[in-house]
Amino acid sequence: MTIDLQKPATIMRGIGSYVPSQVVDNVALSKKVDTSDEWIRSRTGIKQRRIATEKESTSDLAFNAAQNALKNAGLKANDIDLVIVATITPDMAFPSTACLIQHRLGIPKVACFDIEAACSGFLYALDIADGMLSSGRFNCALIVGAEKLSSIMDWEDRTTCVLFGDGAGAAVLAKTGKGPKLIGFKSGADGSNPTLLHQPAGGSLEPASLKSLENRGHFLKMNGREIFKSAVRVMGAAARDLIAENGLTEKDIDHVIPHQANARIVESLSQRLEIPLEKFFCNLDKYGNTSAASIPIAFDEATRASIFKKGQLGLFVAFGAGLTWSAVLVCF
Ligand SMILES: CC(C)(COP(=O)(O)OP(=O)(O)OC[C@H]1O[C@@H](n2cnc3c(N)ncnc32)[C@H](O)[C@@H]1OP(=O)(O)O)[C@@H](O)C(=O)NCCC(=O)NCCS
Repeated sequence: MTIDLQKPATIMRGIGSYVPSQVVDNVALSKKVDTSDEWIRSRTGIKQRRIATEKESTSDLAFNAAQNALKNAGLKANDIDLVIVATITPDMAFPSTACLIQHRLGIPKVACFDIEAACSGFLYALDIADGMLSSGRFNCALIVGAEKLSSIMDWEDRTTCVLFGDGAGAAVLAKTGKGPKLIGFKSGADGSNPTLLHQPAGGSLEPASLKSLENRGHFLKMNGREIFKSAVRVMGAAARDLIAENGLTEKDIDHVIPHQANARIVESLSQRLEIPLEKFFCNLDKYGNTSAASIPIAFDEATRASIFKKGQLGLFVAFGAGLTWSAVLVCF
């Protein structure tokens, strides 16, 4: 291992998450959709997901996760001077969900914006925040990955609606203090095939109209097979590049927190990277794919289960619509 751990790094002072209380398991879903518990579990590993109520929006989930992260960091909202929310299901196109939670947190004036990198969004946000904190112009960042994916699900499309769930995860980052250190980043994208996973209508290309509603264009559309293949390839490449660029080998990695999309994708990634499956933390059976929220929810749960030992190395790795990908190295 050649990592210089004395080098100044961004520190994750606290992590927190929040999921809506409503649990929808596969059996309940199969009463509404033409599917079965057996099909969903064997193809994806998902057993249940959380679904927000009509009254709960992405900003509600984000706000609760942010409060939990601040509590776990032992910090107050007033300590924050930057808020970044990663989401593909903002409360509305504008203003940003970051602005909405800034108001609820009672921290006027601090810089706020959303980013859209789909399921890689939380890791992109870590990468961006690391740059902004390292510039010295910001001191303490609140990063949130939050999604109400049920709001863009086509409940008549069994090939997609069984895969996703709602939730939020948040982290508080600073250049000083105690916590896991973020020591390397690798974010990238390939925009050559945007329709592999997209929401065709509701933007400037196809604004909302009666026709777009009739065509169900406001719902998520996906080519599942192609996404599966691309996911394993791009996450594998991002992880390998990041590990090599930091003078490490796959054997140095103690824990992997992958994007929680599908247990079979995780298994294929484990084989490709030759990192044993036992080192991968998965909770997708409980929450399904929560997009930008999936890694922080998993990381929060793993942290609370005390699975990380001081000095161990962790790898976060994600892919999503775009295609986007991102990998982050962490020293616990
Ligand atoms: C979506 C996914 C689970 C489908 O698995 P698959 O093994 O490729 O399944 P297929 O699409 O080939 O479908 C196989 C059959 O199951 C059927 N099927 C699809 N969804 C079903 C469901 N929910 N319940 C029951 N049957 C279903 C199909 O109609 C098809 O039937 P047919 O053979 O009679 O035509 C898989 O492709 C996948 O996980 N892709 C990645 C998706 C992802 O992670 N997206 C998020 C990216 S961030």
